[in-house]
Amino acid sequence: MVEITFVHPDGNRRTVGAAPGTSIMQAARDNGINEIIAECGGAMACATCHCYVDDAWTDRVGRRDDAEDDMLDFAEGEVRDTSRLSCQIALSEALDGVIVHLPDVQG
Ligand code: FES
Repeated sequence: MVEITFVHPDGNRRTVGAAPGTSIMQAARDNGINEIIAECGGAMACATCHCYVDDAWTDRVGRRDDAEDDMLDFAEGEVRDTSRLSCQIALSEALDGVIVHLPDVQG
């Protein structure tokens, strides 16, 4: 299992476990993290799985590519350097303990 900590906009944190290979989006959906909507189911055809990777994890998680960057134009919340589409982040043992922050608006 890989642990992911979601930080809600109000600062509350929730840590969940997921199998390696699962996306952060799927881990959120499986655990009732409602800020991650994931309308397209992970096809990178919406931006409703937007999250911010914690500064301490950005190097290990990696940066978004151009296609993901284009899709983030449709994100309702503020897009930052650390913004990613959570469906495009596959969990691995190397990401055990990863922290992602949830946007205050999603849509
Ligand atoms: S779930 Fe639609 S882009 Fe990630």
